[in-house]
Amino acid sequence: MNTKLYNFSILLLTLSIFVSCKQQEKTFNSEENLKTRYHKFLDYKPDSLAFPRSFSILKNEINKVPSKDWTSGFYAGNLWQLYELTHNNQYKELAQNWTSFIEKEKFNDKTHDMGFKVFCSYGQGLKHNKTNQEYKDIIIKSSQTLSTRFNETVGSIRSWDFNKENWNFPVIIDNMMNLEMLFEATKISKDSSFHKIAVKHANTTLKNQFREDNSCFHVVDYNQETGTVRLKVTHQGYNDSSSWARGQGWAIYGFTMAYRYTHDKRYLDRAEATANFYLNHENLPADGIPYWDFNDPSIPNAPRDVSAATVVSSAFVELYQYTKNQIYLEYSKKIIDTLESSEYILEPTINAPFILKHSTGNWPKKDEIDEPIVYGDYYYLETLLRLKSL
Ligand code: GLY
Repeated sequence: MNTKLYNFSILLLTLSIFVSCKQQEKTFNSEENLKTRYHKFLDYKPDSLAFPRSFSILKNEINKVPSKDWTSGFYAGNLWQLYELTHNNQYKELAQNWTSFIEKEKFNDKTHDMGFKVFCSYGQGLKHNKTNQEYKDIIIKSSQTLSTRFNETVGSIRSWDFNKENWNFPVIIDNMMNLEMLFEATKISKDSSFHKIAVKHANTTLKNQFREDNSCFHVVDYNQETGTVRLKVTHQGYNDSSSWARGQGWAIYGFTMAYRYTHDKRYLDRAEATANFYLNHENLPADGIPYWDFNDPSIPNAPRDVSAATVVSSAFVELYQYTKNQIYLEYSKKIIDTLESSEYILEPTINAPFILKHSTGNWPKKDEIDEPIVYGDYYYLETLLRLKSL
C-alpha cells in the first residue's frame, strides 16, 4: 500500500471509531438512566439501624452503617433533594422517615461530624418547612453537643478522639463543613455562641491548615494546653505532603460557606486561592473529575474521586455567585456534563439507592475504592439544585 492510501485508511478507521463512540453515547439516554436511578430510592425500605453508605459493584452489596457513622445524614439528604428536584411526595415521606432515625445523634459528643449527620438531614428538611420547631430544636441541641468539643486555647473544635498516642488535639479540614450547622443554630436560636465558635474555628484553620501553594493539609495536630501546632500530617491522603482531592474540596466548600455567614473577605480569598490550586493543577484530568489524590504517583492509573468533584462543583456554584467569575460556573457545568454519561451513571440493573460510580472513600485503608458513595450523590444533587436556582 502506498503512503497516501495508508494514511487515508488510518483516517477512515479513526473516523469510524469516533462515530461509533458518538452513536453509543447517543443511544445512552442520560435522562432516562437518571430517572431509573432516582426510582431505586423509592424501592428501598427504611431501616433505622442501617444507612446505605456505599455500594460494592464487585460483591453486588450495599455497605450499611449505623446512625453514628459520619455519613448517615447524607441518605436522608439525598431523599430531601430528590423531593426538591421531582416534587414527588414519596421522596418527602421517605426523607422524613430516614431523618427521624438520626435524632439520637444530637447527644453524641464523641465526634465532630455532627454537621454532616444532622445538618445534611434535618437542615435539608427545614428548607421545606421553615417553621418545623422539632427540627430546629434538634439542630440546636446538636450544636450544643458539638460546642463541647471546642477548646478556647486552641481556638478549634476537636475532630477525632482516636490515635491518642500520636495526636493530642487533631483538627481535620473536613471539620469546616460542620460550621454551617453552627452558623444556622445562631440564626435559629439568636444564641451567638455557636457563630462565635464557628468563626474562631475558621480563623484557626485559616492560619494553620494551608500550604504556600494554597493546598491544604488534612490533619493539623495541636497541643491542647498551649494551642501550638504539633504536627501537620495526613490520614486519608497519599502522604503528609500530598494534596488529597476531597480535602481540597472541603476547604473550598467550607470557606465559601463561611463567607456566606460572615462576609469576611479573607474566607473568600482562601476559597479562591485553593480553588485556583485545584483548577490549575497539572494532574486534574480534562473531564474535570480529579484523581483521589493529586499526588498519587500511579496517576494516570490512580482511581478518580467523583465525590471530590461534586463537593467542588457545588461549592463553585456558590463561589461564582460571590465572585461572578465564570470559570467556577463553567467547571460546575462541566462536572454535571461529565457525570451524566454512561461512564458515571450507575447501571439501571443495579438495585441499590445510588446514582454515580467512581468515588473513592479511604484509599490508605483500601476501603471504598472506585465505588458509588452516598456523599458523591449528595453533592451532585446539591450542584443540580444550586445550578437550577441561579
Ligand atoms: N470526612 C471524611 C471524608 O471525607 O472521608
